[in-house]
Amino acid sequence: MAMSAIYVLNGPNLNLLGAREPEIYGEDTLADIEKRCDGKAKQLGLSMDFRQTNAEGKLIDWVQDAGANSSGLIINPGAYTHTSIALFDALSAISIPKIELHLSNIHAREEFRRRSVTAAAVDGVIAGFGGAGYLLALEALKELMN
Ligand code: DQA
Repeated sequence: MAMSAIYVLNGPNLNLLGAREPEIYGEDTLADIEKRCDGKAKQLGLSMDFRQTNAEGKLIDWVQDAGANSSGLIINPGAYTHTSIALFDALSAISIPKIELHLSNIHAREEFRRRSVTAAAVDGVIAGFGGAGYLLALEALKELMN
C-alpha cells in the first residue's frame, strides 16, 4: 500500500521545547517529539513531513503546500492560534483533513489563550496531552483520512 503524505507544522517558539517553561510544555524537545511521531506515522502508513518556523508567512506558505501536496495536516500554530486571521484564511482555503494541536490545555490558561481564531477552520482540536497529543493527533488524522 502506498504511504499517504501528511504535514505536521509547528509555529513560533516551539523550537524551544524542552527548555521553554517545562512545567507547562514538558521536557521533551521538538526533536524528541518528531522522533516519536516518526514511529507512529510509519505504523499508520503515513509519510510525514515535520516542520517548525517562527514566521507567520512561512507557516501560511506551508499550509498552502500541505493543501496542494498532501492528504492531511496537523498544526500547532503556537501563539498565532490566538491572533492570526491570515492563518485562519489559509486553513479555510484547503480541503484536506486538518487538526489543530496544543501541548497545553489552552482553555485552562490565561484568558487570551482561551480563544483560538484558527480552530473554526479545522476538523478537530487536541489540547492538554503534552507531547503525547501529537501521537493522538496522528491517529485522529488517520481516522479522518479513511
Ligand atoms: C501552544 C499554546 C499557545 O498558547 C502558546 O502560545 C504556544 C504553545 C501549546 O502547544 O500549548 O506557543 O500552542
